[in-house]
Amino acid sequence: MKSFNTADLHIDPGLFSGVDVYAVAGNPISHSKSPQIHQHFAEQAQQKMHYGRLQPELNSFADAAKSFFNSGGKGMNITVPFKLDAQVFADVLTPRAQLAGAANTLWIKADKIYGDNTDGAGLVRDLLAQGIALHQSRILLLGAGGAARGVIGPLLEQSPKCLVIANRSNPKADELVRLFADLAATREVALESRTLLELEDAKKTPYPFDLVVNATAAGLVEESPLSIQAAANIFVPSSFAYDMVYGKNTAFMQQALQRGARVSDGLGMLVEQAADAFLLWRGIELATAIDPRAVLAKLRS
Ligand code: ATR
Repeated sequence: MKSFNTADLHIDPGLFSGVDVYAVAGNPISHSKSPQIHQHFAEQAQQKMHYGRLQPELNSFADAAKSFFNSGGKGMNITVPFKLDAQVFADVLTPRAQLAGAANTLWIKADKIYGDNTDGAGLVRDLLAQGIALHQSRILLLGAGGAARGVIGPLLEQSPKCLVIANRSNPKADELVRLFADLAATREVALESRTLLELEDAKKTPYPFDLVVNATAAGLVEESPLSIQAAANIFVPSSFAYDMVYGKNTAFMQQALQRGARVSDGLGMLVEQAADAFLLWRGIELATAIDPRAVLAKLRS
């Protein structure tokens, strides 16, 4: 049996006979912490499995996934930019993956590929674990791309008082408000859209927010989606600012800190979404055997 190499970008399940093989697929992928996280879960739950990295070409996710599953792969995590491709690739989707318009977890069962999206549940669990109350809270979600869309459903399920989606370009945020209107009504949440520019106008942003989640790609280019004026309107010392990016003190987090707010990066969300994927693959009965918060502490140490 070949030894497990976390740097392997083209993992071939056929090389690991007798051991279930999983992988994370993304492009780029060498930075991913998912192999490390799943190795911790596998140790905690005493599961024999290999977890590697896959880096499909930008337009060939389906070919890479097909060849992975055909050669015996059991399950996959999917990251940027393939979550939409993964949703299309799956034969059967969970309702939350359908609503999210993206899948971050795939697995094979009876020759069918199943797809789920555990990102939103991961975010909510990390927030709750950090002591953030979501019920009746005022939430601002920055961004209207795939990352934002994946977490709207699970945030609404927590029955906040309001959820404002703000994006550079308005149409995308409006579209998300339309898409989630029924769920928001069921949960009695005021769901609204804004442009990032409108956040500068205190009259159009009549409240500070309890929670501000940055789901834009701005942090990747060392920028904040919020102007100085918008940040001044939005953050108060009781606010909590959460950036989905991890391993960095982003410009968005620094703005929040300057206003006395508390901040978090997205490493806890990454670990929590991975925990759900692990349980989907290996069995929900292992829920008590794994400890995502201990894994998070190890990654931070
Ligand atoms: P992802 O799947 O990571 O969400 P995406 O679908 O390309 O990626 O969406 C990226 C999001 O980040 C969008 O909301 C984008 O805003 P636009 O829709 O207006 O393009 C937002 N974004 C990217 N760079 C940004 C920046 N520098 N400032 C503000 N928003 C930014």
